[in-house]
Amino acid sequence: MSRLASSLCGIELRNPVLAASGTFAYGLEFAGLVDLAELGGLVVKGLSREPMDGNPPPRIWEAEGGMINSIGLQNIGVRAFVRDKLPALAKIPTAVFANVFGYSTADYVEVVRVLEGEAGLAGYELNVSCPNTQHGGIFFSNDTALLAEVVEAVCRVARRPVIVKLSPNVARIEPLARAAEQAGAAAISLVNTFVALAVDARHRRPRIGAGFGGLSGPAIKPIALRLVYEAARAVSIPVVGLGGIATGEDAAEFLVAGATAVQVGTATFWDPSSPLRVARELERFLKEEKIASVREMVGTLRMKENE
Ligand SMILES: Cc1cc2nc3c(=O)[nH]c(=O)nc-3n(C[C@H](O)[C@H](O)[C@H](O)COP(=O)(O)O)c2cc1C
Repeated sequence: MSRLASSLCGIELRNPVLAASGTFAYGLEFAGLVDLAELGGLVVKGLSREPMDGNPPPRIWEAEGGMINSIGLQNIGVRAFVRDKLPALAKIPTAVFANVFGYSTADYVEVVRVLEGEAGLAGYELNVSCPNTQHGGIFFSNDTALLAEVVEAVCRVARRPVIVKLSPNVARIEPLARAAEQAGAAAISLVNTFVALAVDARHRRPRIGAGFGGLSGPAIKPIALRLVYEAARAVSIPVVGLGGIATGEDAAEFLVAGATAVQVGTATFWDPSSPLRVARELERFLKEEKIASVREMVGTLRMKENE
């Protein structure tokens, strides 16, 4: 797959298609379904300082063209991850990223500090779509100062590249993308899910136990593409694009819009091998279009007729 060879903030990738966080467990659970060594990379489920049980059921609702989830960031906690998952993950020759979240800057720093002592990771992805409980519940991802504070603090302790995963639930993405870059992010990824509500009109109840959830899947792709395009023009660090990618051509669209690499999330719910299939389909697309390297496609969208 040499046409697909890519690099992301200094990390060599076999191909630019990664499995997204939260839809690929800790990677190992998919070993019987996918040859993990063939993946461009994988991002594990979000890790917190302590284990978390997550939200009450129902946690998932199938929407038109996508799904709404409110898992509540259930995870085994960073120490159990290091003890029970990382040793086997580290043996897989693919780029493994730890997705990290918290409810204070200190939470993020502590999770990364624990992971810094361990081998087997290519980098970190910070999920900043969480409320900062020490600042009145304001979301890190909605406030440039809070975002800069957490990214700077993590970058001080991290020797590995830090990717900051932005939320789409903002009026303008550019100030947040620039704040992450200036605070030391090696790359940004976007999008996380769109806050959404599914209603059961007969019972006058939300379909999701926690009330609101996050919309993902094909329904969000056009909005994700717009946000990736805007973010890529605002910063000079690489952008990792995701949101509704299910085919090789979807991935190509994100690359053209400005993404250096992409991730596949919800599509793994109906096709667990979709990150690998998307990479193969992308390779076929490159062959058909006579493009020698996937790198040539990045940011080539001609928005206006005369560009
Ligand atoms: C069930 C589920 C769990 C998720 N968990 C996480 C998570 O732990 N951390 C994170 O950063 N994103 C999480 N996400 C967001 C996805 O990684 C991705 O950003 C989003 O779903 C959009 O991509 P997609 O349309 O390809 O799914 C989750 C998404 C889903 C559907």
